[in-house]
Amino acid sequence: VLPKSLAVKDEDDEAEALAGKSKVTVFYGTQTGTAEGFAKALAEEIKARYEKAAVKVVDLDDYAMDDDQYEEKLKKETLAFFMVATYGDGEPTDNAARFYKWFTEESERGVWLQQLTYGVFGLGNRQYEHFNKIAKVLDEQLSEQGAKRLIPVGLGDDDQCIEDDFTAWRELLWPELDQLLRDEDDVSGGSTPYTAAIPEYRVVIHDASFATSEDKSSYLANGNTSFDIHHPCRVNVAVQKELHKTESDRSCIHLEFDISGTGITYETGDHVGVYAENSDESVEEAGKLLGQPLDLLFSVHNDNEDGTPLGSSLQPPFPGPCTLRSALARYADLLNPPRKAALIALAAHAREPSEAERLKFLASPQGKDEYSQWVVASQRSLLEVMAEFPSAKPPLGVFFAAVAPRLQPRYYSISSSPRFASNRVHVTCALVYGPTPTGRIHKGVCSTWMKNAIPLEKSSGCSWAPVFIRTSNFKLPSDPSIPIIMVGPGTGLAPFRGFLQERMALKVDGAQLGPALLFFGCRNRRMDFIYEDELNNFVEQGVISELIVAFSREGPQKEYVQHKMVDKAAQIWSIISHGGYLYLCGDAKGMARDVHRTLHTIVQEQGNLDSSKTESTVKKLQMDGRYLRDVW
Ligand code: 2AM
Repeated sequence: VLPKSLAVKDEDDEAEALAGKSKVTVFYGTQTGTAEGFAKALAEEIKARYEKAAVKVVDLDDYAMDDDQYEEKLKKETLAFFMVATYGDGEPTDNAARFYKWFTEESERGVWLQQLTYGVFGLGNRQYEHFNKIAKVLDEQLSEQGAKRLIPVGLGDDDQCIEDDFTAWRELLWPELDQLLRDEDDVSGGSTPYTAAIPEYRVVIHDASFATSEDKSSYLANGNTSFDIHHPCRVNVAVQKELHKTESDRSCIHLEFDISGTGITYETGDHVGVYAENSDESVEEAGKLLGQPLDLLFSVHNDNEDGTPLGSSLQPPFPGPCTLRSALARYADLLNPPRKAALIALAAHAREPSEAERLKFLASPQGKDEYSQWVVASQRSLLEVMAEFPSAKPPLGVFFAAVAPRLQPRYYSISSSPRFASNRVHVTCALVYGPTPTGRIHKGVCSTWMKNAIPLEKSSGCSWAPVFIRTSNFKLPSDPSIPIIMVGPGTGLAPFRGFLQERMALKVDGAQLGPALLFFGCRNRRMDFIYEDELNNFVEQGVISELIVAFSREGPQKEYVQHKMVDKAAQIWSIISHGGYLYLCGDAKGMARDVHRTLHTIVQEQGNLDSSKTESTVKKLQMDGRYLRDVW
């Protein structure tokens, strides 16, 4: 909690800064930094357009130290924008979760936000079932709680071009804001087109003798830290092995992180966030394209030398001096297609005018189709695009602030239970590997890193990574005698392996286990039936009562988990209509959607319900926490 003196000073400062100005707050709920970037860009543009606007950008997590303060703080807002992403199965981002829960779940406040005018822009992906759910709910709730909607909620779709959606939303916003924030005697605005400044860090080059114990110390357990996305913990890889059988031409890795002595704890069903490194191949390519030596030691700063902030730049990705090799390996997303803002930044540093023109065109409204085709649909990586524009060599401060997004942690459903492996976090990871339309072989950053990881079993110079735990509500019923159904094809099996380990431990402790059905799916028994022996053992031990496997590429026809579920429809209905639990894990876009539909069919047919009653029955299962999904 803030010391009182500080808190008061903050408010005094605010009052002073506001003298004669209109307060505007831009909140963001970000997971990968896109919403944060949009929030900062929006704030910059509002500042540039309206002299009387005093704009503040606020991380929702930092808004109030505890929930009691939200109400008081929100009552003081008069004009606010919310840039919020939707993640996973229609969930808020980690940094927005606490606020979102408080704002949307409490029902007693009534109409209390009449002083507030607001706008919401959502970041989501139409491929997912709960497209922009968080933005939609927040928008509705703000209105229901009395705030005035300035502009319809923006639904950014990352499956297409989310920057275009953001631009279109802003175009609707300006005429509304003109009414609120334009001074009558202000004649400058409106007609002058606004061009966003390219964010840039200030770079300091350090002498090579400035030896650093780079990063190592910043990840170490220090006893009183709780680790999170901003404070990961360095852990060693203890075990690494291939799960696919020799006949398979694909790969799936079982990896165990050693968490002993770190203070990390987790529960069965949680996720682990892993910061992997780009491959040497990608890093070397990036160094060449930037025309800089990889052993260059430098640091980046988002303030000027006199300490004043540098406008729209995000928090620097790394704290101290770092070699270019490490910076590129750990902090730069090199393999995703570049955003339009990155193309504009590259254009600004292209020495060849024709290259600059082409880059600008790709980022322009006229170049929209070309961008969708040449960049997005072709899955051209940032490195590939830079290779096509060799004269565009941005300085490092521009590259890290505006060209390469920050490399994101990857989340995995933990495939162990702490009751079975208290010092280990197990991960089950399918290798992402395959050709893209341009003929490049795309190798997923984290899965490739895991594939190449060297375990402590094999070498004391083993691989390590910064990791942290993300809690989930994908949990076994507290009463182990309640029947459960688990559906998890492919690596969707991961959390269920944890569940089964936990059930085994419970059984050893004397608990009575209820029935447990496991639906698993893979291509072929001889290739990708992962953890086959373990699963059979769980069956023998009575931890699984029925193991039902769909092999999709053994017979003449595809057999998927949902087909097997139809065969067991009566049993499934009996379990879920008598208080049992249904768990679903795996790919959200294809499998989870299809299984969800199958569940509706089963409920409708077995329960003899009409479609609206079916819909509400499934919804209720979800609301009651008896139909849980861990999908990606
Ligand atoms: P396929 O690759 O032969 O199509 C694990 O990936 C298993 O899930 C594979 O057997 C895969 O089959 C299967 N799978 C692919 N799409 C699916 C879907 N929409 N529903 C259920 N299973 C699916």
